[in-house]
Amino acid sequence: MRGILVLALSYLVLIASAGCGGESDAEREARMAAARADSIRMAEEAYDAMVFDTVSWESDNARVQRGAIVWQASCEKCHGAEGRGDGEYAMQLGLEVPSFLEPDWTYAFEVDSLRHRIFVGLEGDMPNWGLHGLGYRNIDAAAGYIGLLVAPQQ
Ligand code: HEC
Repeated sequence: MRGILVLALSYLVLIASAGCGGESDAEREARMAAARADSIRMAEEAYDAMVFDTVSWESDNARVQRGAIVWQASCEKCHGAEGRGDGEYAMQLGLEVPSFLEPDWTYAFEVDSLRHRIFVGLEGDMPNWGLHGLGYRNIDAAAGYIGLLVAPQQ
């Protein structure tokens, strides 16, 4: 009961502070964009392409099998099962996620750029996976799996 009261009070405080003199939507968006740009900068600083040379797999198959797991756990909710950009979570948030299946998709078979992109993210709400607990090995696996999704379309 007391918990509910405290919760209700904090909502009131929140509503009140949003109402009087709080930041506008545009200000909030600008602050979010600045934070995104800052984390991309941090990911760029942490990125080291040479580390991928130390990643090895028993077989191509082992790499894509791991990639499938990474994809399901971390990518599918935005990118969709087949990489068409129609994941449920992205749809709910109204995120614009590009389809990997366009015939001229820039990253198709460009494994270096693909791994770099996955590691550092993008300002339009693509997470910086290198800073979000996906190590180089899992990023390499995800890039391999994307290659598999894209391959039959080319
Ligand atoms: C929260 C939703 C979300 C998740 C989860 C997510 N992405 Fe993304 N991703 C996006 C959005 C949105 C874009 C486009 C961003 C932009 O253009 O600024 C994007 C862009 C990309 C791109 C670049 C595509 C292009 O054509 O520019 C790659 C590659 C990519 N994501 C791979 C992945 C991988 C691999 C995972 C999982 C490890 C993943 N994404 C997880 C939202 C997400």
